[in-house]
Amino acid sequence: MSRFYISTPIYYVNDEPHIGHAYTTILADVLSRFHRIAGHDVFFLTGTDEHGQKVEQAARDRGIDPQTHCDEMVVRFQELWERLEISYDDFIRTTEDRHKEVVCAILQRLYDEGEIYADDYEGWYCVPDERFWTEKDLVDGNCPDCGRPVVQISEKNYFFRMSAYQDWLISHIETHPQFIQPETRRNEILGFLKQPLNDLCISRPKARLAWGIPLPFDEEYVCYVWFDALINYITAPGYLQDDAAFARWWPASCHLIGKDILTTHCVYWPTMLKAMGVEIPETVMGHGWWLVDEQKMSKSLGNVIRPLDLAEKYGVDAFRYFLVREMVLGLDSSFSEEAFVRRYNAELANDLGNLLNRSVVMADRYLEGVVPVVDVKHPALRALQEQTEKTLEGTLDALNGLNPNRVLDVTWQLVREANRFAEVQAPWNLAKETEKRSELEVTIYGLLETCRHLAVLIFPVMPGKAREIWKQIGSEENLETLHLDDLKAWGGLRPGTQVVPGGPVFPRIEEVDLEDKQEEAEEKDMSDEKQDVVSFQEFQKLKLRVARIQAAERVEGTDRLLKLQISLGEEKRQIVAGIAQYYEPETLVGKQIVVVANLEPATIRGVESQGMLLAASEGDSLALLQPESEIPDGAEVR
Ligand code: MSP
Repeated sequence: MSRFYISTPIYYVNDEPHIGHAYTTILADVLSRFHRIAGHDVFFLTGTDEHGQKVEQAARDRGIDPQTHCDEMVVRFQELWERLEISYDDFIRTTEDRHKEVVCAILQRLYDEGEIYADDYEGWYCVPDERFWTEKDLVDGNCPDCGRPVVQISEKNYFFRMSAYQDWLISHIETHPQFIQPETRRNEILGFLKQPLNDLCISRPKARLAWGIPLPFDEEYVCYVWFDALINYITAPGYLQDDAAFARWWPASCHLIGKDILTTHCVYWPTMLKAMGVEIPETVMGHGWWLVDEQKMSKSLGNVIRPLDLAEKYGVDAFRYFLVREMVLGLDSSFSEEAFVRRYNAELANDLGNLLNRSVVMADRYLEGVVPVVDVKHPALRALQEQTEKTLEGTLDALNGLNPNRVLDVTWQLVREANRFAEVQAPWNLAKETEKRSELEVTIYGLLETCRHLAVLIFPVMPGKAREIWKQIGSEENLETLHLDDLKAWGGLRPGTQVVPGGPVFPRIEEVDLEDKQEEAEEKDMSDEKQDVVSFQEFQKLKLRVARIQAAERVEGTDRLLKLQISLGEEKRQIVAGIAQYYEPETLVGKQIVVVANLEPATIRGVESQGMLLAASEGDSLALLQPESEIPDGAEVR
């Protein structure tokens, strides 16, 4: 692949951006930057959705006209993206002429070709969501999406013949498994398509909603906001306006979206494109939701997380890192500041920060700050080089799977290997013996060269910190234009370079606040008279299930931990268990065990663990809990 076109949803300008908007945009930025360093041509598009009821209402609430409202609000998004180092190539606003012209041209053509027709419409309408629903869609008479009351409306409207494309769409999804990702979302859409698809109402009478693009063939109506908004993805790369640019970028490689807007992107959009005779995007990737204490963020709950607050408090790069690292692509994630600080201290301050700091400080202390001349084929460096190669390969693989979270996994394998190398080589001991000078030089070179690789590898996620690392190791190349290919030849750090120690790149965050909170919780526990008993309801919250171990291996760099792949029937999971001293991994394969299935996922030594196995232990002995006889995998333990 030599070109990569990625888009974010265009965000409504009815409110301030929050952590959810920041997440999608950061993820798109990280993917764009990775593709750039992989040597691909990238087009990264984001923007704002400025028409429709929500925006009109927000402007009315402020007592100003909608365009002024949009002009003011859009700046908040643009300023935030600048602060978060979002490297978009184009920012589209749906109120721009370039967009309105394309929407009108498409509407007129589809109307002329009979793909859009007028009809009387009677149905249930959700005002805040601007969507019509059929009687059977309603839940307890309310909008199935937001739960708010709906109103019955009967009026002439214009419709797009979406139903005509249902069979085609099903077959497209079936023959293009990469079109909707991850697979759970694809199944959701295929499930949705089992019912007959209706035609799509694409107009709103001006009398009810004036803030939209007027239909070119009937000035009493404006275009439905979604029909207008989706078209942004082809307006920006030049549809009907710049054929060469459009041919270069379309079809999009990836529309990155949250799972809330799956139907519009996976049903409306491909059928619209099909009717226009335009190719279908390669992938729509629907990520999960950021929740707060397992709840949706909402103004009324007062739990909205504002990205700027966190970026100010902990730094833009740490914020970007946390969002990308914490959320497993496709699943929901609960945001917590405690988890943020824990991850920061363990993975950034300890793992990466220490590596850099000790490498530069030792070069300064033992080698007068000068990168030494060494033979890069020295056997002591082999393991480090092999891990570097694996990391580079793993990075490209993870990129093909559009999974930056996995990229960080493989990058941290290199960080850990380098820290292990430092421990094994113990340069602080080598420095004490003059005859060990050349081994000392090889060791420090190995560490600094790994830091150079790591700076390039983390650049897409933490551009600012990567620049700081670059500066400290004294590298003179231009970090911004380096490619992964340039890293293949290990040993790029030039001898004679002067390192520039600059203190910890990731200073530890004091966990005082967190400790206070923990103490409070403990005190509360102690004051609870019934501290040793759990109620039946509490016990019932635990979901214990039988699982079968399908594969087991040691977690690199630990004596205690095994990584197990387990099956709960339909569902496969990975767990990490501290049983490596008691079992050889291969003897576990095929065994049935009991696991806590609803334990909050955790990352242990950089490895994701989605549950916990149960074992009995006494002194030095340990025994796994197992069902007394074979029972189907996944069976509940009650
Ligand atoms: N304007 C439409 C999109 C049109 S695209 C042609 C829209 N805008 S929105 O402002 O509501 O943004 C929705 C998107 O913001 C989601 O799809 C997701 O990318 C992001 N998020 C908003 N809240 C979110 C979370 N709580 N968690 C993660 N991302 C979510 O819908």
